[in-house]
Amino acid sequence: MTQAVRVAILFSGRGSNMQTLAHHLAKQSVPATFVLALTNRPDAGGIEFCQAQGVDCAVIDHKAFDTRAAFEVEMQKALDTARVDLICAAGFMRLLTPAFVTHWRDRIINIHPSLLPAYKGLNTHARVLADGGKEHGCSVHYMRAEMDDGPIIVQKRVRVHNDDTPESLAARVLKQEHLAYPEALDIVVKNLIDN
Ligand code: GRF
Repeated sequence: MTQAVRVAILFSGRGSNMQTLAHHLAKQSVPATFVLALTNRPDAGGIEFCQAQGVDCAVIDHKAFDTRAAFEVEMQKALDTARVDLICAAGFMRLLTPAFVTHWRDRIINIHPSLLPAYKGLNTHARVLADGGKEHGCSVHYMRAEMDDGPIIVQKRVRVHNDDTPESLAARVLKQEHLAYPEALDIVVKNLIDN
């Protein structure tokens, strides 16, 4: 690939990771351009950021579709129209089908708030605390058909404090997410450019 990598960012809520990636991409430290934001939630907080920044944001409400596959056909159309090379899932709370993930193999990455392979799935912070874990963190990984599976690109660790609540721990991990995702993006973009 010789031209700038065209990046889409998928999100479902407040979109702080999406915004962090958007600011990072704007710095042009690697040849990559943020061409499309995409959300499955019409009420996602991050939409406001996209509007303020003049970033194209596709809003595709998954509830309007009978099946995951039908929803993904619509997503794929938006991704194709924007000629996307790389998808970053950033707090995108929809499971993607194996067919979709396989189509985008090595061109779709995700951030997860745990030190994978530990604590796949939801409520990671509360589960770490319930287990009396001493260490927690986040992982950016290539997506594979299995949920929260795939080669790790970057991990960041935090210590768990005795007085942590799920909220305080989530806040500490989120700070690390905002460091991990830009780092991982740069690695993936460089790999794509070299191949
Ligand atoms: C992040 O903790 C992400 O790892 C998880 O959901 C949260 C989304 O936060 N999957 P935001 O929307 O990026 O602010």
